[in-house]
Amino acid sequence: MILKSTTVPDLINEITTALEQSNLSYGHGMETALDEAAYLVSFTLRLPPDFDPYEAGLSVTDRQREEIAGLLQQRIEERKPLVYLLGETWLAGYKFIVNEHVLVPRSPIASLIQERFFPWWMGAGEANAEPSAILDLCSGSGCLGILAALEFPEAQVLLTDIDPEALQLAEQNIQAHQLQNRVSTVLSDVWAQIPVRQYDIILANPPYVPQREQRELPTEYQHEPAHALYSGSDGLDVTKKILASISRHLTDDGLLVLEVGESAYALEQYFADTQFMWLALENGGEGVCVLTAQECKQFAT
Ligand SMILES: C[S@@+](CC[C@H](N)C(=O)[O-])C[C@H]1O[C@@H](n2cnc3c(N)ncnc32)[C@H](O)[C@@H]1O
Repeated sequence: MILKSTTVPDLINEITTALEQSNLSYGHGMETALDEAAYLVSFTLRLPPDFDPYEAGLSVTDRQREEIAGLLQQRIEERKPLVYLLGETWLAGYKFIVNEHVLVPRSPIASLIQERFFPWWMGAGEANAEPSAILDLCSGSGCLGILAALEFPEAQVLLTDIDPEALQLAEQNIQAHQLQNRVSTVLSDVWAQIPVRQYDIILANPPYVPQREQRELPTEYQHEPAHALYSGSDGLDVTKKILASISRHLTDDGLLVLEVGESAYALEQYFADTQFMWLALENGGEGVCVLTAQECKQFAT
């Protein structure tokens, strides 16, 4: 692939057109061809992702244009999410290292963390007290637990996942954000290896896509780990295991923030007596609910 544009705005337009003509799927951290084009340019030119393409003095060298052309060709031919090709992405204003062992970070829970779980988190014991222990179940890249650690500087955060290679990447992200003193990882199949203690806030973004949908999703999703997306016939295998023991792991004032995406309806059908509180989130995203420790008691088996 050859790119011809010599200015940054023209280059972004040229890449956008090439992407749009290639029938790709978006939604892996960026929603449109234009978003991907701008991110590809910002990455290669070492600019912040919210850069102004019309800023005076911005230019692109032949070498940078060739690098972008190579990545663009790979994006189009392999239909991999762009951020896997670049090895990094951004969520809620923070950079995260990514690879194909983890789901591309995009959870709408990120905006709830940045709102400090307002108005759901009421404080531990006394009003406005900070959470001191946070658990990120099914942590993947560690993005949600790390965002929570950045938002609550007093909290100890545990990231857990069943995949050792995902945890290895999460460790890299912990180091990149210099959080080794407060954020740790444990390899665990749901609750199996999680230390017995109670948490103020538990974040859970488990796999929740029904298995039958695997073949229907665009090729971009086939590059993500299957065990990060699919979870049994109704998409709820892991979620049901989480809920079965959740109340043992929450403090009395604790909160579960659970994402089940489009499986929200299936969850309501399965737990027909439960009133789930589905949130309308700042930056969109569906199927996120909040449950108090008291509400979680009903799931105990
Ligand atoms: C939807 S991804 C979420 C990753 C991350 N929290 C995020 O928001 O990007 C689900 C994660 O759950 C992990 N997982 C799948 N089955 C699991 C299980 N039985 N126990 C623990 N983690 C599991 C996968 O390895 C994957 O990293």
